[in-house]
Amino acid sequence: MKPNPLDQLPIPTTNGNLHKPLITTNHFILPVITLALLITVHLYIGNFSDLRLLNTATPAGNSTEDLKCNIFQGSWVFDDERETYYTNETKCVIDDRQNCMKYGRPDTDFMKWRWKPDKCELPEFDAAEFLEVVRGKRLAFIGDSVGRNQMQSLVCMLASEAYPIDVSYTNDTRFRRWEFPSYNFTLIAIWSPLLVKTRDPNPTNFTRESIMNLYLDEPDDAWTSEIENIDVIIFSAGQWFFRPFMYYEKGEIVGCHFCNKENITDLTVYYAYQMAFRTAFTTLLNHQNFTGLAFLRTFSPQHFENGDYNNGGNCVRTRPFSKEEMKLDGYKLQMYLTQVNEFKIAQSEGEMRNKEVKLRLLDTSDAMIMRGDGHPNHFGHPASDNKSYPDCVHWCMPGPVDTWNEFLLEMLKMEEGEGFIERAPQRNITKLNLR
Ligand SMILES: *[C@@H]1O[C@H](CO)[C@@H](O)[C@H](O)[C@H]1NC(C)=O
Ligand SMILES: *[C@@H]1O[C@H](CO)[C@@H](O)[C@H](O)[C@H]1NC(C)=O
Ligand SMILES: *[C@@H]1O[C@H](CO)[C@@H](O)[C@H](O)[C@H]1NC(C)=O
Ligand SMILES: *[C@@H]1O[C@H](CO)[C@@H](O)[C@H](O)[C@H]1NC(C)=O
Ligand SMILES: *[C@@H]1O[C@H](CO)[C@@H](O)[C@H](O)[C@H]1NC(C)=O
Ligand SMILES: *[C@@H]1O[C@H](CO)[C@@H](O)[C@H](O)[C@H]1NC(C)=O
Ligand SMILES: *[C@@H]1O[C@H](CO)[C@@H](O)[C@H](O)[C@H]1NC(C)=O
Ligand SMILES: *[C@@H]1O[C@H](CO)[C@@H](O)[C@H](O)[C@H]1NC(C)=O
Ligand SMILES: *[C@@H]1O[C@H](CO)[C@@H](O)[C@H](O)[C@H]1NC(C)=O
Repeated sequence: MKPNPLDQLPIPTTNGNLHKPLITTNHFILPVITLALLITVHLYIGNFSDLRLLNTATPAGNSTEDLKCNIFQGSWVFDDERETYYTNETKCVIDDRQNCMKYGRPDTDFMKWRWKPDKCELPEFDAAEFLEVVRGKRLAFIGDSVGRNQMQSLVCMLASEAYPIDVSYTNDTRFRRWEFPSYNFTLIAIWSPLLVKTRDPNPTNFTRESIMNLYLDEPDDAWTSEIENIDVIIFSAGQWFFRPFMYYEKGEIVGCHFCNKENITDLTVYYAYQMAFRTAFTTLLNHQNFTGLAFLRTFSPQHFENGDYNNGGNCVRTRPFSKEEMKLDGYKLQMYLTQVNEFKIAQSEGEMRNKEVKLRLLDTSDAMIMRGDGHPNHFGHPASDNKSYPDCVHWCMPGPVDTWNEFLLEMLKMEEGEGFIERAPQRNITKLNLR
């Protein structure tokens, strides 16, 4: 099948925007962020730690230490002993665009950092345990190509234990369906990079610059048509929101982003991001037949330095930043706060209405902002792509993206005894020798 132009998200520029000529970093960041810092950060940061604790407390642990551990707060520690969960030779799909080994990335240290939560350990991923936890369940990644990056990482991490059968309904590689027969587990990838309905007014002539219609209050059928048959959802969305759009609500234009039309208000990316998540969460809460678990995998930061993707920018680092050196800030922090705020509203709404749906945060942003070394840069482009474009958005496989699935397993295990996982899987401590 020919590569679809929509298959991978447009690689944004350093300031997160696609239209450099229209707006500069300072113009874009300063007004919005200063205002945001004054209002939003002040209001919400304080509560976030509570929120994270709420979601990450381990009911199984018996020490207060365990109960207080937030697995998403920590640092990367170098572990020379650490082996990757898979290699470029493992029988699993590694997208060429993220296959850094295959394309000759010379340094390998970036694969050896493990995430160390401040107050506890994040266990190594155990494929058999994961499959036991999700036995009989259907788990779907709903989002863009960074979401697919995590999904492919998961398939490769499970490859030491089981290899899935591809039972996809379509040749469109953005929609995949894998079955693990011995575990009756189904892994689903649903392409929905904006989570809400879109319409390209000129689909045969798609470019990075074309203005797409975005229906902020209408969820995307691509996933709403499926959720009834899904037990675990992992939502994510990010860089696609930076492209040009015409925004619609109730079928009417409410504004746009970089449409360059005098009579239409240029609304912020944050507005659309907020509305899209609001629509997604509301849809979930109002859906009679969805009673599963839904994660929000938080904003995945890019790390272009020295320029934009198309004018010399790159990401050549070979080691992570420390948490003192690099924190979420600027538009990345604002994207994060925007989505987490909507998440939080939905979560308390769900609790108030006593809904069965469980909303959880896969709070990866703080960890990933430190991983400027984890992107393909020039080591991951298929022949059909223009090799001269570096990628500092997606993540090398293997690489730090594998940690997202270590988090996922820990989060799933925390549901034990909450009606989601009926019985505790018998963890076999013997180290897997298959990888
Ligand atoms: C936690 O449980 C383990 C095993 O049941 C026990 O050995 C340990 O003493 C407990 N720790 C605390 C702080 O209660
Ligand atoms: C895997 O990576 C190694 C080291 O970069 C390389 O020599 C080898 O050709 C790669 N194999 C495949 C199948 O890509
Ligand atoms: C497999 O899982 C599905 C739900 O995902 C369930 O309906 C079905 O009964 C299960 N099959 C077996 C053989 O356990
Ligand atoms: C899917 O691929 C198969 C085999 O390459 C081909 O025969 C079929 O026409 C394709 N279907 C679509 C909808 O593209
Ligand atoms: C495609 O879009 C480009 C840029 O917007 C425009 O110049 C060109 O005329 C369009 N082609 C067609 C066939 O619509
Ligand atoms: C904006 O102006 C254009 C051209 O004058 C017009 O066609 C369009 O309907 C206007 N849009 C809105 C939302 O008023
Ligand atoms: C929920 O399931 C019931 C029974 O299968 C069905 O009648 C109803 O239309 C479903 N509701 C939604 C919102 O899909
Ligand atoms: C690939 O990138 C080079 C250098 O930036 C540029 O000159 C060339 O036009 C690009 N080719 C395509 C097909 O985009
Ligand atoms: C744990 O793994 C070892 C080595 O593979 C095996 O001999 C043993 O039976 C396993 N135990 C359980 C409870 O599965």
